[in-house]
Amino acid sequence: MNPIPAHVAIIMDGNGRWAVQRGLPRIDGHGAGVETCDRIVTESSAMGIRYLTLYAFSDENWSRPVEEISALMDLLGQYLVRKTPKMIANRIRFETIGEIDRLPPSVQSTLQATKDATAAGTGMTLIMALSYGARSEICRAVSRLLAEGAREATQETIGARLDTAAYPDPDLLIRTSGEYRISNFLLWQAAYTELYFTETLWPDFSPSELRAAVEVYRKRERRFGGVR
Ligand code: IPE
Ligand code: IPE
Ligand code: MG
Repeated sequence: MNPIPAHVAIIMDGNGRWAVQRGLPRIDGHGAGVETCDRIVTESSAMGIRYLTLYAFSDENWSRPVEEISALMDLLGQYLVRKTPKMIANRIRFETIGEIDRLPPSVQSTLQATKDATAAGTGMTLIMALSYGARSEICRAVSRLLAEGAREATQETIGARLDTAAYPDPDLLIRTSGEYRISNFLLWQAAYTELYFTETLWPDFSPSELRAAVEVYRKRERRFGGVR
């Protein structure tokens, strides 16, 4: 059996469909999704997962209607303000990946306040992917290398310039809502990540399903291209 994954990454998908199934506006699905975030963060930290990366807003999500984007930004800000004390209590350190400077200034300052308030956390690191796209992340890393005058690129020099430079690659990637794709998430880092797909819509994803996904992961044979 594999040990518990050090790093779990989740594509939190299906909020809109969850709401539409109930005759509610899509925004209500995002509101329910935020509550799932809170439960999953708490459970992950209790399980001893060291890093949890949550895909909350992609580069491509900027193409959604402005009303939905602004509702998502409001929910994000409220979530951070509401949950920072709990993060501190659980020794969770909050960080982000993605192009944070594209977010509304008020959200940027709330993000910074939460990072500052949780910086001393020695427990789980919670990483929110916001305005994140793996292709643009790789391009930014390569551009930095070029600006530094590098004549060649290696896996190490690119990896060290990605937003995720400080974290290990994810061991387990979960996607909810029955979509079987990566949607521009952690393309570089997921080279050898174990994938777990579930039909469950994100607002219905539970701590017990997280534990079930981790049990599936623990039984996987990770060969990394080698032989047993
Ligand atoms: C995931 O739920 C949340 C974000 C992408 C912000 P969706 O909003 O994509 O929900 P569906 O996929 O339309 O059901
Ligand atoms: C992926 O979900 C992005 C996030 C969960 C933040 P989407 O709903 O945006 O992805 P597609 O459009 O189904 O690929
Ligand atoms: Mg979706």
